[in-house]
Amino acid sequence: MSGDAAHQGSGLDDAVAALKAGRLVLMPTETVYGLAADAADARAVAKVYEAKGRPSFNPLIAHVPDLAAARRIARFDDRAVSLADRFWPGPLTLVLPALGDTVCDLARAGLDTVAVRVPGHPIARALLEAFGGPVVAPSANRSGRPSPTTFADAIEETGSAAAAALDGGPCEVGLESTVVALLDEPRLLRPGAVTREQLEAVVGPLSEAEADAKRSPGRLARHYAPNSPVRLDAPSPRAGEAWLSFGPGGRGRWNLSPTGDLAEAAANLFAYLRAADRTEPLAIAVAPIPEEGLGEAINDRLRRAAGFVG
Ligand code: TXA
Ligand code: MG
Repeated sequence: MSGDAAHQGSGLDDAVAALKAGRLVLMPTETVYGLAADAADARAVAKVYEAKGRPSFNPLIAHVPDLAAARRIARFDDRAVSLADRFWPGPLTLVLPALGDTVCDLARAGLDTVAVRVPGHPIARALLEAFGGPVVAPSANRSGRPSPTTFADAIEETGSAAAAALDGGPCEVGLESTVVALLDEPRLLRPGAVTREQLEAVVGPLSEAEADAKRSPGRLARHYAPNSPVRLDAPSPRAGEAWLSFGPGGRGRWNLSPTGDLAEAAANLFAYLRAADRTEPLAIAVAPIPEEGLGEAINDRLRRAAGFVG
């Protein structure tokens, strides 16, 4: 498999043809870029794990164009329908009992559940509609690296494994989707762009992810990590450190949001981590980010980047 990928950006027809031929496609979404494959084609799905260097016990998200398509691969209860009605298309992934094996066993990492999402990005939606079946798409980074939020970063991470690459510009949200499991009580498996407060307004209080690795296979220790060490809650940088500041007082090149807007900070987070990392600093120091709303997801990614989450 290789690498005639399109560093310029391919057309939609080429991307659909690539998926149908069992090849990989870089797909923009509103959250981050994904490395897409036909969810029904185990050989194509195997290429995704290989290109990312991802352990095959960590399952992938199936992307579909609408709720009707989602209901063909997953069993929806009332809570799932309410969340889908409220947040799809958009940055929410639901983990539900799997129906059938259209999303192949390898994509589900052998689980009897499936993660489903209806993305909001117009190019992702056009690709899904034209392709006509579920498409798995993990974030297009190599495993353990920050998710790509620009076309150039996606090409740099896994472009050599893709037969086609769709340029959707910079990702509006910049953080991966929120992952909620609805198997017993509603559980927050991964905080993300849809906040805990927004979810709880629809389904009531959310439980935490179970420690059980089978139910929450994505909660690996070091994740989203740049090469440089990351120092959190740093009110100011030390000599030799790059500085990701936040809010009106922040100095330097990489202020995540001069006005203290968490949505802007989320959109800038991975791109600034990468930019700071390229300067090969002693460490990347990051200002404190308030743990409210989108701040929960930002702090989750930062703690993983710093290696603190087990
Ligand atoms: O925003 C996003 O969700 C992006 C874009 C490309 O759509 N995709 C993404 O995929 O972040 P990925 O593979 O990097 O993250 C998927 C997460 C992982 O933490 C995985 O463990 C979890 O979803 N997951 C997938 N299937 C699951 C399942 N059946 N049960 C529990 N967790 C699951
Ligand atoms: Mg990922």
